[in-house]
Amino acid sequence: MKISSLVQGLLSSLCLGTALADQLANSTYYNPILPGWHSDPSCIRVDDTYFCVTSTFIAFPGLPIYASKDLRNWRLISHGWSRESQLPGISWNTYGQQDGMYAATLRYHEGEFFLICEYLGQEDGIIGVLFRTTDPFSDDAWSDPVTFKPTKIDPDIFWDDDGKVYVATQGIILQELNLETGELSQPPISLWNGTGGVWPEGPHIYKRDGWYYLLIAEGGTELDHSVTIARAKNIEGPYEAYANNPILTNRGTDEYFQTVGHGDLFTDTEGNWWGVALATRCGPEYKNYPMGRETVLYPARWEEGEWPVLQNVRGEMEGWPLPAEDKSVPGDGPFNDEADEFDFESSSALPKHFVHWRVPRDGAFSFTDKGLQIVPSRNNLTGVPYSETDVVLTGRRGLSFVGRRQTHTLFDFTVDLDFTPREIGQEAGITVFLTQANHIDAARPRRRS
Ligand SMILES: *[C@@H]1O[C@H](CO)[C@@H](O)[C@H](O)[C@H]1NC(C)=O
Ligand SMILES: *[C@@H]1O[C@H](CO)[C@@H](O)[C@H](O)[C@H]1NC(C)=O
Ligand SMILES: *[C@@H]1O[C@H](CO)[C@@H](O)[C@H](O)[C@H]1NC(C)=O
Repeated sequence: MKISSLVQGLLSSLCLGTALADQLANSTYYNPILPGWHSDPSCIRVDDTYFCVTSTFIAFPGLPIYASKDLRNWRLISHGWSRESQLPGISWNTYGQQDGMYAATLRYHEGEFFLICEYLGQEDGIIGVLFRTTDPFSDDAWSDPVTFKPTKIDPDIFWDDDGKVYVATQGIILQELNLETGELSQPPISLWNGTGGVWPEGPHIYKRDGWYYLLIAEGGTELDHSVTIARAKNIEGPYEAYANNPILTNRGTDEYFQTVGHGDLFTDTEGNWWGVALATRCGPEYKNYPMGRETVLYPARWEEGEWPVLQNVRGEMEGWPLPAEDKSVPGDGPFNDEADEFDFESSSALPKHFVHWRVPRDGAFSFTDKGLQIVPSRNNLTGVPYSETDVVLTGRRGLSFVGRRQTHTLFDFTVDLDFTPREIGQEAGITVFLTQANHIDAARPRRRS
């Protein structure tokens, strides 16, 4: 099988800014920085490298980690969740198309990367997961998770100066977390209910100049989405809301980039502040947005003792001088918006950015001299997702599906398919896939004539 996808290029997306002479001159760059489905970004800087994670719901492998040295070119370097054995049986027990890994937080503490997330859709509710590694460039180096039992979604992880570790979740509530056992302190402490928007969620705590800042998302992830902030002298509160909230939103505007929210903040090597958030290229109509929720970058200003000021999200942005373009990020994964061309043979492995819808069955995908060999699943792509009677037809025993994110609005895509259906109902082909309930297929089926 040969798969090639040549980018025709609408946006030459990640522009170079002012690499010209003056180091101090501000830069121009383009959003999104992670085009295609990259919702709920959480990003950090470690030395001269930036790292981000985004949500993956029931896709597998999940929790992609991207790395960049220039904030424009992002290489996929690993997945926090890449082995069935990290969470045995979980994937195949998941019904909902929007369950799975939601809104992770990525942090670095004393030489180690911590990735905290929650898996939704198990019979006994939400499972909190904390993965750790000292080498984020390797799938295998991500630990099996310590699991915990949260009551709410969107965990943040924060180390206070006294060594205590806290998890804040939707609500916004706070609990202390035991990193070894996963035990959460009880009862949860209510920190802040936001400014009145629905779903105060996606919290991140930062400590700066003697204040605990609590950055959250409000208004739901659609047109009312926004970022608001409060601060307190004590981590447990009382939190005082900023008078000029929301500090970031595109609600009530006719901007092309809408749903801006779910932010995270970090500094660059010069000490300038930046933030990421999710956004949708849909305009105020919010009707057609095949690129989904993408990751955008905005400059911020955060003076000592003051509230942070975040720049509104647009397609063309101007902000702090960006590092010179630099693609010297180690790893064998592709840069996010690169074109692909694969000629698979027996020694091939599945490219790092290829994903399945749930963990695939053993042996469903293998490589031969003829290319990628796929053993069909019994169910078709839609199946009967909520069937109680025949679990195999739900897709919960692995779909023989493999795909990649759409990262450009215009592209060419071809697949050489070798398939001889022998029985009525067998089919194989290509699909533009959102969920089992939403996909456009071009298939070669065998039907009754
Ligand atoms: C948030 O709302 C809940 C429910 O009304 C209330 O119990 C809690 O005290 C509130 N939290 C704060 C910090 O005001
Ligand atoms: C450079 O960008 C920063 C961040 O957006 C902004 O605060 C500053 O005013 C800009 N400087 C100039 C000279 O435009
Ligand atoms: C997909 O599979 C389900 C369950 O067998 C079946 O009801 C449905 O008709 C199939 N859809 C197509 C397009 O074949």
